[in-house]
Amino acid sequence: MRVDVLTLFPEMFQGPMTESMLWKARDRGLLDLRLHQIRDFTTDRHRTVDDTPYGGGGGMIMKPEPVVAAVEAVLADAPPGTPVILMTPQGRVFSHQIARELARYEQIVLVCGRYEGIDDRVRQLVITDELSIGDYVLTGGELPAMVVIDAVVRHIPGVLGAEGAADRDSHADGVLEGPQYTRPPVFRGLEVPRVLQEGNHAAVARWRREEGLRTTWRNRPDLLLRARLSDDERYLLAKFAREDAGKR
Ligand code: ADE
Repeated sequence: MRVDVLTLFPEMFQGPMTESMLWKARDRGLLDLRLHQIRDFTTDRHRTVDDTPYGGGGGMIMKPEPVVAAVEAVLADAPPGTPVILMTPQGRVFSHQIARELARYEQIVLVCGRYEGIDDRVRQLVITDELSIGDYVLTGGELPAMVVIDAVVRHIPGVLGAEGAADRDSHADGVLEGPQYTRPPVFRGLEVPRVLQEGNHAAVARWRREEGLRTTWRNRPDLLLRARLSDDERYLLAKFAREDAGKR
């Protein structure tokens, strides 16, 4: 998969994109990451990328010409239908499902905004989607772009071993993953749950689902409204609710 990133700060991608899983994906030819300096697409002597906002208000706005020129240059040899995604706090909220959908494309383009925003004509002319990574405002779209790349790349076949299949992740089906343990069997008096030590696969799967459900109930009850649950699982939720009522 090819990912083109348009940014004023390509150096920010050193480190996150050259370590661990992402480096392995690039090394194996599964991820072709190309960073483009938006400033290289300016045509004036001062290489200007920003200007003051029409209508006043503080801050600087990214000028449309270099961003649109950069997008058009990248799209010149991209497959038709390649998504051009603006990272912005005004976008729809990024999720596991969106990551999985994006991983199906041969190529995607991520545009990182900076300063107080980007001239809206960029969105009108070349942007196909706008993504936010959460309900808070960062100083730019670079960290969000790295978050999107990391989450998308995990869905490319061959990036994770079979053991780490992304379809079993937290968020894959609306129920979070439960707790995990490794050796030693007892640490500071806390024992690894018996069922995990005994290794009965069906019992382990049942325990994991129940504990995942418990974690979701405790930390993200909002997810349960959309989760696909069996009758047994609904029964368990009712049990957690009774336990909570007993604590109050
Ligand atoms: N740029 C600034 N804040 C952002 C956010 N939360 N998501 C995506 N891009 C952003």
